[in-house]
Amino acid sequence: MDFPVKVGIVGCGKIAPAYIENLKGNLSGSVEIVACSDLDAEHTRAFAEEHGIPKACSTEELLAIDEIEIALNLTPAPAHYVLSKMILNAGKHLFTEKPLSVDLVEARELLSIAKEKGLLLAGAADTFLGGGLQLCRKMIEEGKIGEAIAANCVVTVPLREDRRYHEVFKGANLDLGPYYVAALVHLFGPVEKVSARAPKRFPSKTDAATGETFDVEYPSTVSAVFEFGNGLTSTYIATQDVHGYYPRIEVLGTGGKLTLNDANFYTGDVILDSYTDPGTIVPSEEDGYVTLKRGLGVAEMALALREKREPLASGELMYHVLEVLHAVFDSAASGQAVEIDSRPEQPQPFSLEAVNTIRSEVAAQ
Ligand SMILES: NC(=O)c1ccc[n+]([C@@H]2O[C@H](COP(=O)([O-])OP(=O)(O)OC[C@H]3O[C@@H](n4cnc5c(N)ncnc54)[C@H](O)[C@@H]3O)[C@@H](O)[C@H]2O)c1
Repeated sequence: MDFPVKVGIVGCGKIAPAYIENLKGNLSGSVEIVACSDLDAEHTRAFAEEHGIPKACSTEELLAIDEIEIALNLTPAPAHYVLSKMILNAGKHLFTEKPLSVDLVEARELLSIAKEKGLLLAGAADTFLGGGLQLCRKMIEEGKIGEAIAANCVVTVPLREDRRYHEVFKGANLDLGPYYVAALVHLFGPVEKVSARAPKRFPSKTDAATGETFDVEYPSTVSAVFEFGNGLTSTYIATQDVHGYYPRIEVLGTGGKLTLNDANFYTGDVILDSYTDPGTIVPSEEDGYVTLKRGLGVAEMALALREKREPLASGELMYHVLEVLHAVFDSAASGQAVEIDSRPEQPQPFSLEAVNTIRSEVAAQ
């Protein structure tokens, strides 16, 4: 197969270095970064120099580079739609940070453009491809907790008075929710119905840094129940109104309980508590997944491109996740349960064979 696939980065901010570290490290056999762009030319040049990226340019120039097959959209949520559309219209495959778009109609349009043009669309949250959640899936499917009956999912982040987190990142439900909902869909298949409550207790807040008052667009605390096609249910709480970062997914089964690693990350401790296997399990290095972190979805997408198939962290999956997150707001606003229309396929497990292909491309360097 023809590796590495050439990629360009649009958006040289806080998260970009985490991608670059792995794309230029563990994943460098699969993908190669050839250019980057940002709004400010001076910042782009300094960023490219710091990270050893051959070309710093405008986004228009980046999208005109023939050898670039995949463009990464690493800009903040409000810019996702416009830039993702630009990337697809330039004929490049798209990997986008979460959420796919802030708006559901815009997100659907991105999927349509990709389909019409025969381009791949993938994106974050791709952490379910990591060694931690892949191990959890295997353990659940092997019956380590008996039959999975229900799950408990919580994510809290202490940004109660952070205006940018509310206005740019759109709060915990839309910002961190994608990791946790994608993890649940990876384990149990699509969500079919959402019932939620989200009393708007804080219609306006004061920014801790500036002392300015701002309106809260989306409820900053949401509680919901998700119903999956297989009859399993999960609770879901997302909030930026409380103290501390408290991420948790527990899966309760007839024979035990599995506490997943934090779905915001690719690996971490997995805790099994069952009749036969009490204890903590750290995802195994031998399985080859462990060192493959941020950027893993891009490398998996590069493999999918060469294998002429859909990527695992597909646009359809990310659209479904966004539909569920918006259904949380909609159900809370109406007081009624909301049926979810999209039904992406439950992603296949990220096979060791595929992991090893990515790694063998690394080894071939
Ligand atoms: N910061 C984190 O810890 C983190 C973690 C995981 C995922 N993410 C996601 O990554 C994305 C980016 O977040 P961030 O924290 O890096 O944001 P950031 O604000 O630090 O960086 C975003 C960059 O995009 C650039 N940009 C904005 N509009 C642009 C445009 N039209 N054209 C070109 N460049 C443009 C900005 O100038 C900035 O340099 C978001 O979707 C976020 O949810 C962030």
